[in-house]
Amino acid sequence: MSENGRGQWQTRAGFIAAAAGSAIGLGNIWRFPFITGRYGGGAFVLVYILLLIFIGYPVMNSELLLGRKTQKNPVGAYKALAPGSPWIIVGFMGVLAGFVILSYYSVVAGWSLSYIFKSGAYMAAGSDAANIFVSSISSTFGGIFWHTLFMLLCIGIVYGGVENGIERWSKILMPVLLVLLLVLIVRSVTLPGAGEGLSFYLKPDFSAFSAEGFLAALGQVFFTLSLGMGCMITYGSYLKKDEDLPLDAKYVVSFDTIIALLAGFVIFPAVFAFGLEPAAGPGLTFITLPAVFSQMGAAGHIFGTIFFILLTVAALTSAISLLEVVAAYFIDEIKWNRKKATIGMGIAIWILGIFPSLGYSTLSNVKLIKGFDILDSFDFFANNILLPLGGMLIAIFIGWFWGTDKALEEANRGASTKLGASYSFLIKYVIPIAVFVVFLNSVGILG
Ligand code: TRP
Repeated sequence: MSENGRGQWQTRAGFIAAAAGSAIGLGNIWRFPFITGRYGGGAFVLVYILLLIFIGYPVMNSELLLGRKTQKNPVGAYKALAPGSPWIIVGFMGVLAGFVILSYYSVVAGWSLSYIFKSGAYMAAGSDAANIFVSSISSTFGGIFWHTLFMLLCIGIVYGGVENGIERWSKILMPVLLVLLLVLIVRSVTLPGAGEGLSFYLKPDFSAFSAEGFLAALGQVFFTLSLGMGCMITYGSYLKKDEDLPLDAKYVVSFDTIIALLAGFVIFPAVFAFGLEPAAGPGLTFITLPAVFSQMGAAGHIFGTIFFILLTVAALTSAISLLEVVAAYFIDEIKWNRKKATIGMGIAIWILGIFPSLGYSTLSNVKLIKGFDILDSFDFFANNILLPLGGMLIAIFIGWFWGTDKALEEANRGASTKLGASYSFLIKYVIPIAVFVVFLNSVGILG
């Protein structure tokens, strides 16, 4: 605890592990491949990497510095720096986004959790793993059961406080995930027919790319880095005043990017080798990976089981950061205690999550946005609307209201390589304009 009674990260490595733990999750291994597949492959990846550098990295710094400056949750942060102004709404939007994202995130994490126990089924099914996936998500009871179990884990950890368990776990398990991905890449790229997948993934074909793909890449940048809703404001609020913030941000962005790109090297060669559809949507990873495991002989059971344990843990370290934002708001601003905030909000989010979890069984006829199922629609709404909007408004806030000079002063305290004019330029001009233009296109897309 620091002098103001709020929690504080114990060590530098601990903070990086927690922030990277928030960033690295389903976004890298589940969402990145299926969005890349949906929007055409290589060209999408290229745009994604550019946006990571020119939008993701500066916004990451911005959120962390706002958090460290104010020592507050997103709503409290805007309230502290711009009292009595409508900026507080941006904070609320963030809390809302956290609520919506966690509701379906927990459903997908539940799929991962259930797959820890399914190696027998998918190993037997071989490249026909799609059937196993479809039957497992279309069980009304099963969907709710795994979603419930995952939310319970999440509530338990956030309730206990984030410092100990998560700091330590993340540091050990994330490197293991990395090694396992490397093993899987070797298996995947040596499958017969893998080459076509590699060229889909690596060769930019801009004729397959659209304005909507641009918006999706932007949404993915925010999602994968946990940006645009104040998650990194909240994590930054537990930082020491002399932490090297730009360097930490660089580590987090790099680790996150490496894991996502590696996941693509596992998924796409296998997608083509097994004659699957890269645009298959949210099921892509859960259909492709089991098919890869099934080609590994008896070892597939072990690799598969370990992999889904790690994916579930990665999802958990992300999910707790989502719940932490919502809880921190109720703790700081509404003066609830931690117990009431985590359990109360955890239950509310769990209830909302029942809808996406039933979207493949009881509610499978419900299509919301663009003909997507409930889960895909929640995902689209949060990532293509709320997060880019939140990210754009943070940039406008710092660039045009609070001031980049103050931001630089906060970010550069303790920095080995200081942020400077390029940060200010990106925050003031490039990010607001880029997001706005991409957004205008999205209006047409939504109609
Ligand atoms: N970044 C996480 C992932 O890739 C998900 C996540 C955690 C998130 N916290 C967030 C996304 C805040 C958006 C905002 O799985």
